[in-house]
Amino acid sequence: MNNYYVTTPIYYVNDTPHIGHAYTTIIADTLARWEKIKGNDTYFLTGTDEHGLKIEQSAKNKGVSPQELVDDVSQSFRDLCVKVDSSPNDFIRTTESRHKELVKDLWLKLVESGDIYLGEYSGWYSVNDEAYFTEDEIVDGKAPSGHKVEWLVEKSYFFRLSKYTDLLLNHFDENPDFIQPKKRLNEVRSFVKQGLKDISISRSTFSWGIEVPEDPDHVIYVWLDALANYISGLGGFEGSLFEKYWGNSHHIIGKDILRFHAVYLPCFLLSVGEDLPKKIIAHGWWTAEGEKISKSKGNAIDPNKVIDAIGSDSFRYFLLREISLGSDGDFSYNSLVSRINSDLSNEYGNLVSRTLGLLKKYRASKIPESYELGLDEVELLKVINSSKSELELAFDNYRLNDALKAIWKVVKAGNKYVNDTAPWVLYKEGKDKDLDRVLYTLVELLRVIGIWTSPFLPTSSKKLLDSLGVVNRDFQSSIKWFVLKPNTEIKDSLQLFPRLNLKPEDIK
Ligand code: MSP
Repeated sequence: MNNYYVTTPIYYVNDTPHIGHAYTTIIADTLARWEKIKGNDTYFLTGTDEHGLKIEQSAKNKGVSPQELVDDVSQSFRDLCVKVDSSPNDFIRTTESRHKELVKDLWLKLVESGDIYLGEYSGWYSVNDEAYFTEDEIVDGKAPSGHKVEWLVEKSYFFRLSKYTDLLLNHFDENPDFIQPKKRLNEVRSFVKQGLKDISISRSTFSWGIEVPEDPDHVIYVWLDALANYISGLGGFEGSLFEKYWGNSHHIIGKDILRFHAVYLPCFLLSVGEDLPKKIIAHGWWTAEGEKISKSKGNAIDPNKVIDAIGSDSFRYFLLREISLGSDGDFSYNSLVSRINSDLSNEYGNLVSRTLGLLKKYRASKIPESYELGLDEVELLKVINSSKSELELAFDNYRLNDALKAIWKVVKAGNKYVNDTAPWVLYKEGKDKDLDRVLYTLVELLRVIGIWTSPFLPTSSKKLLDSLGVVNRDFQSSIKWFVLKPNTEIKDSLQLFPRLNLKPEDIK
């Protein structure tokens, strides 16, 4: 058994959650559930990032105090965790004292390493990105993200990032899987290769942040504050959770915040002599109906509304199946409806309702007894075996859409098996033993699919496995055969994924 730690970024609370945030959480939750069914001891952390000028300004615009704003919006991210059916072990907030204490502790450790000094900063600052940009990064007078920048001069503490250029490059060489998908590593490596420059890690122009120890005129830069959540969420460097999980940490992030995670975080850790994260996994970005999601356009899709309309499993399925993890994707009404109706209703849902319907009709909903395999069953088991390897390989490489494709090979094979064996003909011809074998095979097949889909579709998986009376739901047991107990009665007639009858305005 391995210990496994997975995190989402902590979300900014200056805005309410949209599908991009839900996506990050769903990826992390799916990985956590996968590790759990593989028998690993898993810890999943998420939370909210509540300091910084952006939040201070948002609160001012809304006429509330920063604390009121962060309490309110943080709750909506907490609620979203439940809504998307994710089950984090903890939810960390950067305004909690357990976090603030750790950040101060980290600051003092960085001072002790000789890596913090006081200097003066001038540069182009984007409030939206909470980051400074150099002259050559400015595009048409704006930050690379397109956000407005302003020229700022301030006294500031600096961190000696420059000291770590070579150590970090070595780390990349020795750990080629450090950044996933791999193509992103080159991006980061070429940035680091140019030579890292020291970074400003304090601000004195606003006060909504954690005070620099022994210098209350400064607050700690929000990214140093925020990145420390991965440690404060484990109870700090001395905590038992840190000792247990830190060695195998997996950080799910969007591609926009790769530099902070793959450069800054490792350098802070190198400075204090701690292990670096195991993996930084960067996903792509969603657009909505072909357009960049932005507050000003008002085109953000509310995940709560979509889930109310189609259910959390369908929402999770769409996000994870539609694109590969590193690529960008478009969230459109048309692709949502067609993806769910074809894969979930017509293929998976249909296999379940057909199987349970046949069982009801011919065997009074009781699992028959049959411990033999004919040619059709041997073929089916071959598909299960090869899909199992594909599934594991896909997870090893964070290709969650390929993992779903592997499961769907089994779903499709199941529908083909029903057509090929034609249980209704077996019944008509009185071939009782054959009919028992086919029906038994089908429920066993549903057991396998129920377990394999559990990281992706937790609600429907639970319904299915509960109604089949499945006791062991771990991955290892999924690939055994002849597990289900004959004579078990399946009471529910599950309609897991009825066809969507959705209007575009239902999800807007
Ligand atoms: N607070 C920082 C993270 C600090 S982690 C130490 C932050 N917050 S965020 O709320 O702006 O973004 C959180 C996550 O949501 C990021 O991984 C980001 O990539 C993701 N998304 C925000 N919009 C997105 C899309 N349109 N599409 C996909 N994910 C996107 O950054």
